[in-house]
Amino acid sequence: MTTQEFLGKQNFTINNQTVSESCPSNIALIKYWGKYADQIPANPSISFTLNHCKTNTSIEFFANEAFSVQTFLAGNEETKFAEKIEKYFKNIEQYLPWILKGKYIIRTENTFPHSSGIASSASGFGAIAKCLMKLDETFSGKSSEEESLRKASFLARLGSGSACRSLYNGLVVWGESDEVQGSSDLFAVKYPDNEIHEIFKNFNDWVLLIHEGQKSVSSTVGHGLMNTNPYAERRFQEARENFVPMKGILKNGNLEEFIKLVEHEALTLHAMMMMSDPAFILMKTGTLEVINKIWDFRKETGLPLFFTLDAGANVHLLFPNNGTEDKIKAFIETELLQHTQKNGVVKDVMRF
Ligand code: PMV
Repeated sequence: MTTQEFLGKQNFTINNQTVSESCPSNIALIKYWGKYADQIPANPSISFTLNHCKTNTSIEFFANEAFSVQTFLAGNEETKFAEKIEKYFKNIEQYLPWILKGKYIIRTENTFPHSSGIASSASGFGAIAKCLMKLDETFSGKSSEEESLRKASFLARLGSGSACRSLYNGLVVWGESDEVQGSSDLFAVKYPDNEIHEIFKNFNDWVLLIHEGQKSVSSTVGHGLMNTNPYAERRFQEARENFVPMKGILKNGNLEEFIKLVEHEALTLHAMMMMSDPAFILMKTGTLEVINKIWDFRKETGLPLFFTLDAGANVHLLFPNNGTEDKIKAFIETELLQHTQKNGVVKDVMRF
């Protein structure tokens, strides 16, 4: 599909509306880090969609008033966020031609701590894109559920790249890959459930809040640093290549290989930031202590506890519910929680 196919219908009738939607966050296994113009990813990525970490958003649209956006985050007015959304709406006008023809009040709240490093931009833009599609269908006519979801994913991508993966449950792929039929740089697609071993359908993601402050590098700056990173091209190629083993692992359920691949992806993302100019170290002492303890624990017990990281210090602890989870949970509580600020942990599971 091409961008042209997402252009909006010129025939629409607008009126006052209030819509609300909810969208979960996601955590990438093969990471997206580096992009081209118009939010085209430099490599394909695959993620798990979370279950409890969500953004709930309502949009009040006042038709035929001067275009303006007011936003409230957990009840508090956020003017910076409103500016970002205004810019975003102007940017997507060709796909939703009615979008600048009214005034907006947007209320949004996350079910997880704002500073947790859980991708609130993914769930946030996912929820906004779903609300916009609801308005679009009211003003321009209904489309099929499949089309509507695809366009919501397309619109979410233009807000925050990884957000486009949050529109689907299960495992989700964004970015063209020879290994995944129908995959696209423009929107995300659901990885086929019948290609996924049962072990991956009942998985935990516990996020250890190692550091709750502001992230030291925003994703915009981080993606930008890949433009001048001398290792970037090799990294993009490696991510593309990683889809080959990933596809086999997802099918045959080889946890050992899965762990190796997922941890490698997380460490590569961080290594790329260390090799950027300027360089950033996104881990904190606690991140390293937790990683070392996880590796020791795996060596001693052979139990499948492993980690992934986003572009920050917090650690996503991944482990399946396959009868080993009680021992793993006990280990996390006694050994790993001490490395968080204020015993902070967000306990989530994959959404299938
Ligand atoms: O969607 P963005 O621009 O915030 O980028 C997020 C990138 C990572 O979360 C670090 C990796 C990923 O694929 O989600």
